[in-house]
Amino acid sequence: MTAPLRVGILGLGTVGAAVYQALLRHTSSIANRSGRPVTVTAVSARDKIRDRGIDLTGVAWFDDPLALAASDTVDCVVELIGGADGMAKSAVEAALAKGKHVVTANKALLAKHGSSLVALAEKHNATLNFEAAVAGGIPIVKTLRESLAGNQVTRVSGILNGTCNYILSRMELEGLTFDACLADAQRLGYAEADPTFDVGGFDTAHKLSILASLAFGAEIDADAVYVEGIASITPLDLIMADELGYRIKLLGVAERTQTGIEQRVHPTMVPKSWAIAQVMGVTNAVNVAADIVGELTLVGPGAGGNATASSVLSDLVDIARGIILPPLGMASSALAVLERAPMQRHEGGYYIRLAARDRPGAAAGIATRMAEQAISLESIVQKRPPASRAADPAGKSGAPVPVVLITYATTEEAIRKALDAMIADGHIAEPPQLIRIERG
Ligand code: HSE
Repeated sequence: MTAPLRVGILGLGTVGAAVYQALLRHTSSIANRSGRPVTVTAVSARDKIRDRGIDLTGVAWFDDPLALAASDTVDCVVELIGGADGMAKSAVEAALAKGKHVVTANKALLAKHGSSLVALAEKHNATLNFEAAVAGGIPIVKTLRESLAGNQVTRVSGILNGTCNYILSRMELEGLTFDACLADAQRLGYAEADPTFDVGGFDTAHKLSILASLAFGAEIDADAVYVEGIASITPLDLIMADELGYRIKLLGVAERTQTGIEQRVHPTMVPKSWAIAQVMGVTNAVNVAADIVGELTLVGPGAGGNATASSVLSDLVDIARGIILPPLGMASSALAVLERAPMQRHEGGYYIRLAARDRPGAAAGIATRMAEQAISLESIVQKRPPASRAADPAGKSGAPVPVVLITYATTEEAIRKALDAMIADGHIAEPPQLIRIERG
């Protein structure tokens, strides 16, 4: 066998420890598949004395990640520090500048600096692998970059954040609160260090921008992603979705439209009969539509130590085998500038929940504002809570009541104009809830 691939790991959190353990557990099969051993020779983390349940005997410890990144004792650096800037970026740059291959799970870093880091890797004949950055254990990066290289992709979409899917699933199925579900997701090692990245939709947006680059042969353009998170989803929305035949999922969608490439992340109502509606818990799912192959869907664990470690290992085996590919599927000089489609032009159905003031003319006023924008309504449901009915049987108080509107396909611009007009009319007591509907 040839010389081992000497690996340095930066960051020994949930994922770093799982990578280290898996490399020990599968030492011989990985060596056989790679044609050479893959050995961790150096690590760097914040706290040297913390018990991580791993035996680091014989592994060099670096207090300074930059020193490890530039060290001649490693051929390849696995960056698991996280964060779009700071030490993660400096360490990746230092390693690439020395011609070392880099494996990273850092979607925030790639979303912000991916195009320039790829160019740096090219310049130094190194590679930058990032299967673990998108959808945890699902091999979607290789699927787009390698398996579908002969296709023109028209759409890539899916559930890309395990934490959000876990929260929405448990809120719906167990009636738990948002906060309780988020705390469990953190305890299980699914959530980001700052969980607002998860629940605010930003983590999904980072991943989507990477997938869009691979799918459409364009530079990563995370600023072009329209982002809404799940924090505003209430138990009533989940109940209404169920009654109407839908489930609420945080979807990321990148799609070629007539106005350019649309990239959007938002809670979405999907028909319960769809396969993606059955994807529950920390599981992710990615659907790709492409001209030659048609449509395919990959489903698997989206977060957690072992799921992410599995993807890191596949990148390491590629490097050990000598498979060095353009990270974004083509030379960085061949990547196009992504043509942005404005969200205002987005077309689809909408679920709108209003806290309407319960008084004569309110419903008619709301309907008028929708009609003015040529929005056609599929259904209207006024849901007065039992407690309010008991306290005020004749509805004399004018207290706000939930009114849910389901629209046929319309544009984002028309919906926004109608809602603005309703708010100006004074018919609505709280900011409206708006959830887009996918009907296929
Ligand atoms: N916080 C991320 C998630 C981890 O929940 O999906 C995997 O990228």
